[in-house]
Amino acid sequence: MLVHIKDIVGKAQNSGYGIGAFNICNLESALGVAEAAVRAKSPAIIQVSESAIKYMGLKPITHIVSTIAKNIAAGVPIALHLDHGKSFDSIFECINAGFTSVHIDASDLPFDENVNLTKHVVEVAHARKVWVQGEVGAMPGGHGDKGKILKNIPIASVEEVIEFVKRTKVDTIAAAIGTAHGVYENEDVKINLLKEIKEKTKKPFVLHGGSGVADAKIKSAIKNGVNIINIGTDIKVAFCRALIDNCAKNSKEIDPRILLKPTIKAVEKVVYDKMKLFGSAGRVRIGEVET
Ligand code: G3H
Ligand code: ZN
Repeated sequence: MLVHIKDIVGKAQNSGYGIGAFNICNLESALGVAEAAVRAKSPAIIQVSESAIKYMGLKPITHIVSTIAKNIAAGVPIALHLDHGKSFDSIFECINAGFTSVHIDASDLPFDENVNLTKHVVEVAHARKVWVQGEVGAMPGGHGDKGKILKNIPIASVEEVIEFVKRTKVDTIAAAIGTAHGVYENEDVKINLLKEIKEKTKKPFVLHGGSGVADAKIKSAIKNGVNIINIGTDIKVAFCRALIDNCAKNSKEIDPRILLKPTIKAVEKVVYDKMKLFGSAGRVRIGEVET
């Protein structure tokens, strides 16, 4: 069932488990996340980046996710979120399309410019009861290869994060605390920094760069204040691995459905395992979500 993100995050905060925010970019990955949520009896955040919206179109992606949430995942809470929104216009379009949460990522701007742009987004979004995620400390990395070391993973300043939250009134906060987008050997979670940010801001914390972070570190992060864990690369890798392997085995196939079908299961398995790791699996009693 499509719900407001606050319903999902509120429950998780009170019960001390993490919620996965899973990046999708097509029908199959959306189906994979939804089917994992149903099998795991877990809430889930389905998120799209601006490039995923460019690839699929805002209306198609919104209707695909809401239709899947209302039908295949009718019994579990699903929220739709814009990930790494860069421009005010694209954020505004997502708010108009019915997203209940948007991420304004202005972390690569000078601090005061980040604050001002984020404040503007908060004013507009809050007028429409939409949650806003802000970010301090630009996330490094990209589509990381396994076993690669990422030089210079920046760390946010706790003073900046506290001032940012005070001045912007964001609903959730993302900050660079040692992880990176992609899969790198030297990703870490600075627990003391996380604890201080949590203590001083009292805001739900979003861990970006969730792929490639050791399970023990994810568990410790959730125990010390992480509420939402973003997973993108692990989904992409599982999807592409399944597609490439299947195409290699069926190089004469001409039916796209035959070639694409295993990607759904591959994404479902990765997401299911994350829901177990985050502790969100089993949190939904069937029938609990009004359909
Ligand atoms: O915003 C999306 C996430 O931060 C993706 O990070 O690709 O390392 O899972 P990841
Ligand atoms: Zn991210």
